[in-house]
Amino acid sequence: MKISVVGAGNVGATTAQYLLEEKLADELVVVDVVPGLAKGKCLDFLEASPLRHYPIKVAGTEDFSEIRNSNIIVITAGIARKPGMSRLDLLKTNEKIMKDVSIHIKTHAPTAVVLVVSNPLDVMCYVALKTTGFQKNRVFGMAGVLDTSRFRYFVAEKLRVNPVDIQAMVLGGHGDEMVPIISTATISGIPLTHFLNKTQIQEIVERTQKAGAEIVSYLKTGSAFYSPAASVVEMVRCLVTDVQKILPLACYLEGEYGACDLYCGVPARLGRGGVLEIIEMKLNPEEKEAFGKSITAVKASLQELK
Ligand code: LAC
Repeated sequence: MKISVVGAGNVGATTAQYLLEEKLADELVVVDVVPGLAKGKCLDFLEASPLRHYPIKVAGTEDFSEIRNSNIIVITAGIARKPGMSRLDLLKTNEKIMKDVSIHIKTHAPTAVVLVVSNPLDVMCYVALKTTGFQKNRVFGMAGVLDTSRFRYFVAEKLRVNPVDIQAMVLGGHGDEMVPIISTATISGIPLTHFLNKTQIQEIVERTQKAGAEIVSYLKTGSAFYSPAASVVEMVRCLVTDVQKILPLACYLEGEYGACDLYCGVPARLGRGGVLEIIEMKLNPEEKEAFGKSITAVKASLQELK
């Protein structure tokens, strides 16, 4: 199993660290265009290997040809948000980066499964799909797992319950219009609405929608990276071990949920080879409307691209 991580910034480096700790790769390559950045961080990992028991095949490089024949590629490259910026403000700069990276992937790793993390997420997935020309099941994005993890944490914090016991899904685009699905959210199988009233749930929904910006407001020079990296690794684990979890993923839609030719967060079964199946769950009228608004927002950002 060869995994390459593109981008050695906070998200890329933390992803690499988690992948090494979990021993998910036989060979790990980290690529970054900034001279020495990936090399330096990977040397640092290697120097910790006697203590952390990392696998020894780790390489940091500026040379994209080293991703050759990767099974999985995680794209984290791109600029991150600063306070006051929306994910959309990153669009033009990151589109160019995503195109370059996708061409390298097409050339050097034509059979890879591609997991996109860069923002604005849904649009960057689209750029990666169209530029690589890969099948849609091999190009998808990480956002729903992160948004859902945040939602679960906020519920756990409020109720002092174990976050692991909270089952939930945050769907839609990775923007302020994302849609936490309340009708199916449970704590150990007990409906969330048993524990929290409408106002309390709405507070958590809004905090989830703004959670990325909340972290940016504290960090000031960048965005979240521990929870995004953990979310990526949750997905990579599915790809490597073929456990086929159902997770909220940014998938290319062709009619599902009434959307066409765009990426959006939907529940999907993830296993070896990528997205195995999109699950079209029933949403209640309120959720349906919110999901529609989220699709409209994704469409608007795609329009900006075109
Ligand atoms: C966030 C960025 C990574 O949600 O999109 O924190």
